[in-house]
Amino acid sequence: MKKKLVVFSGAGMSAESGISTFRDSGGLWEKYNIEDVATPQAWKKDPNLVTDFYNIRRKQIMDALPNEAHCQIASWEEFFEVTVVTQNIDDLHERAGSSNVLHLHGNIRLAKSSGPNQEKRFYPISNWELTADDLCEEGYPLRPHVVWFGEEVPAFGHAAEIIRESDLLLVIGTSLQVYPAAGLIHEAPATCRKIIVDPKVEEYLVPKEFEKIQGSAAEVLKQIDLY
Ligand code: APR
Repeated sequence: MKKKLVVFSGAGMSAESGISTFRDSGGLWEKYNIEDVATPQAWKKDPNLVTDFYNIRRKQIMDALPNEAHCQIASWEEFFEVTVVTQNIDDLHERAGSSNVLHLHGNIRLAKSSGPNQEKRFYPISNWELTADDLCEEGYPLRPHVVWFGEEVPAFGHAAEIIRESDLLLVIGTSLQVYPAAGLIHEAPATCRKIIVDPKVEEYLVPKEFEKIQGSAAEVLKQIDLY
């Protein structure tokens, strides 16, 4: 039977595909105020500004390609039962060939209702642009399928279950500052081998049983020994 490998990824995973991280110097949250573009209050105040912010990001993501690290993870399916739990809203893991990807913070290629039944149905956005004229079947404007600050993380429970059953947990490219997602690293059982990969890994406080590997995702994953 194949061992269960869970990859828990953050923005650093897609950095080598040219997608900005959030909290590095020059990151997205230096250029935008979270309160203006990534909260339910922002949507209430100025839905066009929020929609435009995600339209720009969607376009960048659609123009980007999976990097070597995304491809390496997909290739491990030959040897492991791999599940990717990602905080990223891009679809680069899927485009690299990963079969089981759980998006904790949503998927930018999808929209959902801004009305009361938001989790009922997700609408694929075929091009990069969502507009104010795009409505759900109940007539409410569509909003990006992303989890904003202050919102529940509907996939959290499922992600925790997956990590509780893992034999190997590989955490890559996350500053572990955003909860509840960051708390998932504590769900892995004692028997699980735990590794964290990040250029700034030495700055992060993680439980002592984690093996820390400093470096970029693409650089480290091509030589890491998981067997
Ligand atoms: N390879 C691996 N890691 C990298 C690379 C790289 N090439 N480049 C940068 N990193 C690391 C940084 O050192 C940092 O630790 O990626 C991490 C990115 O951290 P954040 O920008 O905070 O991103 P993330 O942890 O994914 O943010 C969590 O915050 O804004 C929200 O919803 C958003 O899902 C996101 C959440």
